[in-house]
Amino acid sequence: MHCHTSSGRYRHKDDPDQSCLPCHQDRVEEAVEHHHHPEGKAGSHCIDCHMPMTRFAAMNRTDHSMLPPTPAATLKFESPNACNLCHDDHDAEWADKWVREWRDEDYQEPILYRAGLIDSARKGEWDRLPDMLDYLTSEDRDEVFSVSLIRLLETCPKEEKFGGLLKAMEDPSPFVRSAAAAGLSGYFTPDAVMALIEASTDEFRLVRIQAAGALVGFPVGDLPNRQRDALIKATKELFDSLTSRPDDWSSYYNLGNIYLTQGRVKESVEAFGDAHQLRPDAVLPLVNTSIAYARLGEEENRRPLSEKL
Ligand code: HEC
Ligand code: HEC
Ligand code: HEC
Repeated sequence: MHCHTSSGRYRHKDDPDQSCLPCHQDRVEEAVEHHHHPEGKAGSHCIDCHMPMTRFAAMNRTDHSMLPPTPAATLKFESPNACNLCHDDHDAEWADKWVREWRDEDYQEPILYRAGLIDSARKGEWDRLPDMLDYLTSEDRDEVFSVSLIRLLETCPKEEKFGGLLKAMEDPSPFVRSAAAAGLSGYFTPDAVMALIEASTDEFRLVRIQAAGALVGFPVGDLPNRQRDALIKATKELFDSLTSRPDDWSSYYNLGNIYLTQGRVKESVEAFGDAHQLRPDAVLPLVNTSIAYARLGEEENRRPLSEKL
């Protein structure tokens, strides 16, 4: 609420440094020593360097990750950096030289390190898995980076990753715990099942429903009553979350996947059908309808659906 009105308008258009003042007063007062640009001109406002306009998700937006400008990341990973978005007549090497000259400490190094882990995970370079798992459990892990790494680990075939995910289930951040729970999906070792059942009573709903989602398909019959009840309650929350937006095709698609995992194949066909009706050009519901029909043994039904594609 400090920076935006409740409808999302920016409050400090004419004096953007006001956005940062309440929490970073020292920086605002000693701004020139910090940013090395003449007062009042472009390059002297906090948002010039910390919230540059970049493009993602097909929109131009100011970057809200609040990171320092990092020209070295442009050199290494071709990520944009705030300096060269303005100084487009100079290259990243030029900007990198300046930020190194202006600072004693190599503030870019830790940013490059974690960016390197993300880069390796994207490329499937799993020989770096031990470093990735160390990062997840390190004191100064950034929660957004941790969650990104955990999600990228989904395609990692190495068993060791689960040890790291189990540790991440104890992370103080609910965002990290929820991602770790999702990462343990279908991994029904006693340790993992216990951790997920415990997470199904987490203080945060996001963690509870991800834990319930990860345990879809786990036979609850053998669990002690208290644990079973907790899991049933969290699973109900999961279903509520998926049916809370009845105009959204992906809700039905996700619901269909849960039914399919639970062996409720006919219900899954129905849910995928609803998804298809809401969004006829989405391919995933059609693909999974075929899978569901194949499971039902209705070979004939596969043909007309694939012809629709
Ligand atoms: C409501 C308080 C608050 C406001 C307003 C605020 N910040 Fe921050 N900012 C913080 C806190 C707290 C941290 C430390 C977070 C941490 O260490 O995880 C931080 C950290 C940062 C960092 C370091 C991030 C990093 O990972 O290196 C930058 C850069 C930053 N803020 C810039 C800004 C800018 C620019 C503005 C204004 C547009 C702003 N902040 C407004 C509270 C605030
Ligand atoms: C010309 C670019 C530039 C501008 C403008 C700028 N900064 Fe920074 N800022 C940096 C760089 C580079 C770093 C990383 C090095 C460092 O920590 O000093 C940084 C780091 C920070 C940090 C994190 C440092 C820490 O100790 O964790 C905060 C907070 C911050 N800036 C706030 C501000 C605020 C508030 C303003 C507006 C008054 C501002 N910055 C304007 C370049 C800029
Ligand atoms: C929003 C635009 C903007 C951003 C972001 C910005 N600058 Fe600048 N910079 C300027 C402008 C405008 C000037 C010229 C100021 C003047 O009138 O002297 C300038 C001047 C400079 C100069 C001195 C003149 C020159 O061209 O040699 C250096 C060096 C410089 N910037 C480096 C940086 C670095 C490094 C960063 C990132 C940490 C950065 N700037 C971020 C706009 C920006």
